[in-house]
Amino acid sequence: APPPACTLVIFGATGDLTHRLLMPALYNLGRWGLLPKDFSVIGVSRSEMSSDEFRSELSETVRGFITAKGGEAGGGAFDEGVWNALVERVHYRSGDLSEAASFEELKGAIAEISGREDGGNVLFYLAVAASLFGPTIAKLGEAGLTEEGEDRWRRVIIEKPFGHDLPSAETLDADILKVLSEDQIFRIDHFLGKETVQNIMAFRFGNGLFEPLWNRDHIDHVQITVAETVGVEGRGKFYEATGALRDMVPNHLFQLYTLVAMEPPISFEAEAVRDKKEEVLLATPSARPEDAVRGRYTAGEVQGKAVTDYREEPDVAADSGTETFVALKLGIDNWRWAGVPFYLRTGKAMTRRDTEIAIRFKQAPLSLFKGTNVREEVPNWLVLQLQPDEGISLQFGAKVPGPAVRLGSVDMRFCYKDYFKTEPSTGYETLIYDAMIGDPTLFQRADMIEAGWRIVQPVLDAAEKRELQTIPYEAGSAGPKEADELLTRDGRAWRSLEHQP
Ligand code: BG6
Repeated sequence: APPPACTLVIFGATGDLTHRLLMPALYNLGRWGLLPKDFSVIGVSRSEMSSDEFRSELSETVRGFITAKGGEAGGGAFDEGVWNALVERVHYRSGDLSEAASFEELKGAIAEISGREDGGNVLFYLAVAASLFGPTIAKLGEAGLTEEGEDRWRRVIIEKPFGHDLPSAETLDADILKVLSEDQIFRIDHFLGKETVQNIMAFRFGNGLFEPLWNRDHIDHVQITVAETVGVEGRGKFYEATGALRDMVPNHLFQLYTLVAMEPPISFEAEAVRDKKEEVLLATPSARPEDAVRGRYTAGEVQGKAVTDYREEPDVAADSGTETFVALKLGIDNWRWAGVPFYLRTGKAMTRRDTEIAIRFKQAPLSLFKGTNVREEVPNWLVLQLQPDEGISLQFGAKVPGPAVRLGSVDMRFCYKDYFKTEPSTGYETLIYDAMIGDPTLFQRADMIEAGWRIVQPVLDAAEKRELQTIPYEAGSAGPKEADELLTRDGRAWRSLEHQP
């Protein structure tokens, strides 16, 4: 059902996120009939521009993203009717987020455009630099824009990164909680908008088959990989200050980590689910620097394309100590998982795009099959493949035909696209829709964010003190070999990125 009437105010309206993801997501919601009947968008940015100019810019870029092959939302036909119905409800106001006057003007614009003196329901989207999150919310508060009433809500979606370490995240939370209540805050992690990420819970808790095996008695270890082929692609300035650990781990990788490790919630109510995810983080001791490897890509070739050395990218220091790859070993001190290592890795400019959670089951207690090394030749892996070819596979041993009883490794595979018609989408559709109906299940609570930072903080500190240097790896490889060492010292190995589908 469409959400209640509301105005969506996007700060950072001329930025990449708005063009590439937010507006295509609104277009998709429009296509599915999931936008409010009474709906408008007000884009706010510094540049001087008319609403008409803004609309025509958006029309061009959004059409491009929707029709492009291989893009996030791409590959579809562009429905002019749906787009026109949306774009005529889009407005633009230029504003300087450091000026109180801009917020007063915005207040007037919201009243005028919504046709309600009190402005009605408003969803603010902070698609701006992270340094502006706190100050912008403070200004919204001063202008009275965050005040809710009997029949009007005010909500704020905050993009990542939420802080850059534990103390800054705590400060940011304290600052914004002076203005907003927790239920007005929607801290976004776009991984949670991905169908396949949401499917992890469906897989675990919608089936009776897997859960009895989902524990230390049967699972040897878990590997979580988010390998990207892209490099920093012009985001040198952002990336230098961020690095792979901050950019990916306490947010995206920890989403996968908590979903795979959480206890069953008592219901699918927001707090029930979020409490169980939070418990995983609370039970995770902070990472030890000796269990972390930081890497940095050098020149190479990724899928036939030459890639420049990270240190030669624009806005990147020639002696940059920023990591573009990180691998970590974590553990969870609870009854389900005690003693089961979780290995996490993520990197840019790697050989293949691959987001997966791989669960390695314990081997058979003895091998009856002479000439077969059960552990090495027929391992039992359950792999949740999240990107690109979404699916689930189970690897096990089967008899190789012939007189000798030997085992070979086979795969049982489920591919999403064989069963479901998947609509191209950005992942932001669900999240924007949920914020409009006030469902915070797929958003991050303050305590979750802070627990995430607490876990990675020792690695950030060691990196800062240059005790944990970045190790070069060639673009197009699977990361530095020291990351392999993290597993080989435990008698284990990463799943190869090379020969997967
Ligand atoms: C973003 C990071 O949050 O997630 C990027 O800032 C990263 O560096 C991206 O490339 C990955 O998201 P996706 O949806 O492409 O897997």
